[in-house]
Amino acid sequence: MAWWENEGLKLSGGKLRIAGRTADAWAASQGTPLFVYSRRRILSNLARLRAAFAPAWSGELRVCYAMKANPFPGILGLLRGEGAWIDAVSPREVRAARAAGFPSSRILFTGTSLGPADLRSAFAMRGLTIAADAAEMIPLMASIRKREFPGRTVRVFIRWNPGLGSGFNPKVITAGERSADGTPIKFGIEEGRVLEAFQAAAAAGFRPVGLHQHLGSGWTADDYPTVVQAVDRMIDMARTVIRSGFDLECLDFGGGFGPRYAEDQRIFPLERYARTLGRAVAKALPGIRAIAVEPGKFLVADAGALLVRVNYLKKSYGNWFACVDAGTFNTLPRTAIYGQAFHQIVNASRPAGRKVPVTVAGHLCETGDVFGKDQPLVVPRPGEVLAILGAGAYGRSMASEFNLRPIAPEVLA
Ligand SMILES: Cc1ncc(COP(=O)(O)O)c(C=O)c1O
Repeated sequence: MAWWENEGLKLSGGKLRIAGRTADAWAASQGTPLFVYSRRRILSNLARLRAAFAPAWSGELRVCYAMKANPFPGILGLLRGEGAWIDAVSPREVRAARAAGFPSSRILFTGTSLGPADLRSAFAMRGLTIAADAAEMIPLMASIRKREFPGRTVRVFIRWNPGLGSGFNPKVITAGERSADGTPIKFGIEEGRVLEAFQAAAAAGFRPVGLHQHLGSGWTADDYPTVVQAVDRMIDMARTVIRSGFDLECLDFGGGFGPRYAEDQRIFPLERYARTLGRAVAKALPGIRAIAVEPGKFLVADAGALLVRVNYLKKSYGNWFACVDAGTFNTLPRTAIYGQAFHQIVNASRPAGRKVPVTVAGHLCETGDVFGKDQPLVVPRPGEVLAILGAGAYGRSMASEFNLRPIAPEVLA
């Protein structure tokens, strides 16, 4: 069995099958490029996440799907049916979640740099919970509520920056003072101002009910020590907030759990993390009713593949290229944006055979437009279908019409 096979993605009969159907058949019937997502794999990822917390946390667990990872309506509907919540970051995401049937009471709006129009649309949706990402955001929130929604109950989470962050790339480390490449981190409220933010929110008539943090994305085993330390910091801060008289109902630890993208990846020990977190909160803060997590990648990344067709094989200066009918920046931009991002590529039409290093290159006018560099691949023939794995998260949701190429369609099966 290949390391990447799962409930939705299997090698059988000499072909790659997604949700029981060959990639060739998907490509023939729907065209390429095409995103195919497996329902069964998403459900199994969700079940694993819940099972990880169950032994140590008997209170409510809110799995708030970070829909920025993939807002495909079929996926939203699937997760809604399973009792998930939503982490939305823009008014359009909130509307998409509502259209998929999520009640506003199960949507947490965690946007950053929100302006008057964003806040207006959030307040207009009764029951929505809003996370304040800056102490400086609270006066703006207060003035809009007072002027346009007087007396409206609005539940608020305070997003803080615990001074520690962790992620697979500097661009997605979202807590701490500066990221690994020196970029100042814009998210959350610094430790010394958290209480002030709670007080300001309450004084302005909001109901501050939660404390929120998000440390970064794509955690591996190497991130474990830092993220566990941040659990302790969250608990200390929650204790301070509760002692100051606030009725905290929920601690939201954000997302970041990394799915497996590569065979040699040191996998994040989810079960150990969930057990540590659940026990620590239950012991230290018996009044907390709910823990929230905001998985994006973990739920959907390995449930999706991007199918592309080989236009031709090219050799130049000793390098073999499979030139395909999709681009990275416009279709699955992770490898183009984040140097370390890796996507396993499989010759879906002919997976078995002698493999040679092939660079899978897209159709955009950028040298960085490669899905994989020198990946061992059964030498593709023109017309064959390649599957770019791990494409269920931050693929279509980050896609664009760069070079005026149309955006690839999606199917959930
Ligand atoms: C606030 C917040 N929560 C959750 C996530 C989801 O992260 P991941 O997909 O790594 O789980 C993100 C990602 O950017 C985020 O900004």
